[in-house]
Amino acid sequence: MTYKVLISDPLSPDGIQALLEASDVEVDQITGKTEAELSEIIGEYDALLVRSQTKVTRNLLSRAVRLKVIGRAGVGVDNIDLNAATEQGVIVINAPDGNTVSTAEHTFSMMMALARRIPQAYLSLKNGKWDRKSFVGVELSGKTLGIVGLGRIGTEVAKRAKAFNMNVLAYDPYLTREKAEKLGIAAVELTEVLTKADFITVHTPLTKETRHLIGKKEIRSMKDGVYLLNCARGGIIDEMALYEAIKEGKVAGAALDVFEEEPAIHHPLLELPQVIATPHLGASTVEAQENVAIDVSKEILKVLRNEPYKNSVNLPSIPPHLMKKLENYLQLSEKMGLFLAQVTKGAIKEVEIAYAGELGEEEMGPLTRSILKGLLSHHLEARVNYVNALYLAKQRGILIQEQKSESAGGFANLITVKVKTDSGEHLVAGTSLNGYGARFVKVDHYTVDLAPTGHLIYVRHFDKPGVIGRVGSLLGSRDVNIASMQVGRTDQGGNAIMLLTVDKAISDADAEALSTLPEIASVTRVDL
Ligand code: NAD
Ligand code: MLT
Repeated sequence: MTYKVLISDPLSPDGIQALLEASDVEVDQITGKTEAELSEIIGEYDALLVRSQTKVTRNLLSRAVRLKVIGRAGVGVDNIDLNAATEQGVIVINAPDGNTVSTAEHTFSMMMALARRIPQAYLSLKNGKWDRKSFVGVELSGKTLGIVGLGRIGTEVAKRAKAFNMNVLAYDPYLTREKAEKLGIAAVELTEVLTKADFITVHTPLTKETRHLIGKKEIRSMKDGVYLLNCARGGIIDEMALYEAIKEGKVAGAALDVFEEEPAIHHPLLELPQVIATPHLGASTVEAQENVAIDVSKEILKVLRNEPYKNSVNLPSIPPHLMKKLENYLQLSEKMGLFLAQVTKGAIKEVEIAYAGELGEEEMGPLTRSILKGLLSHHLEARVNYVNALYLAKQRGILIQEQKSESAGGFANLITVKVKTDSGEHLVAGTSLNGYGARFVKVDHYTVDLAPTGHLIYVRHFDKPGVIGRVGSLLGSRDVNIASMQVGRTDQGGNAIMLLTVDKAISDADAEALSTLPEIASVTRVDL
């Protein structure tokens, strides 16, 4: 199988070697195209690799009929419509680690340049002036640096600030006291960062919560003469509020690598002498560009080849240790979904999933997605996969309930899925048996022991002598070979079921003939 990969932004040639050398991949590097131009060709590709120039919009995605994965060579995925990708079942992966150091170094360079007014002095000298009075700076040593967002980059900035003898205050909702102590910094609330810092640098993603996180009110609460930095994403600091605060003299200076609208060529902030700026260069080093391209190329290959991958932005990734543990259960749970989809009549309203035994919270997420994938893929024409299964279920108004309990009634683990429709409910319970693999152990009210694979016939009947023989003879006379048979009943002479595994799928006529036998209540064909 050959996969087609489109690289639509310029990337490090060394970084994409893994893709170029892969024998099962054909790579096209077509950069600088408009959305309309990309829309014309995107339908041919299995994977799209971008930096930040390509805007992966809902519109573009609607034309990407083969697309399985979008790789972002970098951290921020704000140029990709994640909801649209998820709805379409397209995995989005990024390369979150490769440019951390470069961006932290860029931030630090900007802070030093800001403190010593290096860009302004450079420009003055280049313009023929030997001016030593206008560019008196401030030392970083002894000053307080406030960091908003102490993730990968924020942490690296903090380490460098410590080496420069700065006091570091950081705010991040996920910052633990232990991590702060280890770094020798203080974990504080946002207000404390704002009111106490001499330099404030933001390192959060741009989200609904962080858009204009630093606005008029926040700036008003800061020290007079504060310096602000944004090397994360344009829009975290409100640009108009910053402009006014610099004009008023409240803010002494700002260093910006990113802007709300990029490219930002004639931006009012750039007219202010207190503002130094770079055109989104945080990650623009040879090392970072190579690292992110290497990381994302490898990940794309794994997704295309159906191998375990990490760094998915729109799907919780399964760490390798968990993948090993889950392998059997993922298969089992998908088959349970698929089985229920085929035996259930009517629109599904509710899915109840009970996890019992050793399976923990960490495992439940992927297994639920897998059950829903099986359940929905039987009926939906749209592509259903792990990425969009949950979305598609919720979109159809299906209520999903998950429960977890310790006791699995003698099994190491037991997964029970009940599906409710307007016309009734069906249930299947399954486990993975050491040495035997996946097994259904309960179907509706009946205890069974069934390897969930191949062509099945699910017969509901009344427990009367001779029924099993009649079913066997009828199928034999129609040249259908029974490979295995499971029988279950609630009580003697009551309702009962037969689950037959047959060597080939039976025809409509075979099913019709079976259902007309005396004592047979219903016949359902199931393919697993
Ligand atoms: P990260 O995910 O490791 O860290 C982000 C941190 O922000 C997390 O710890 C998160 O808890 C914190 N956060 C989220 N919301 C917050 C809030 N409301 N208040 C405080 N903290 C909050 O990401 P990273 O790799 O460190 O990247 C940080 C930013 O830098 C991202 O926006 C990324 O896109 C940007 N970036 C820019 C460049 C560049 O070229 N300028 C390069 C790389 C990354
Ligand atoms: C990122 O999010 O990784 C950066 O903004 C760098 C880039 O766009 O390449």
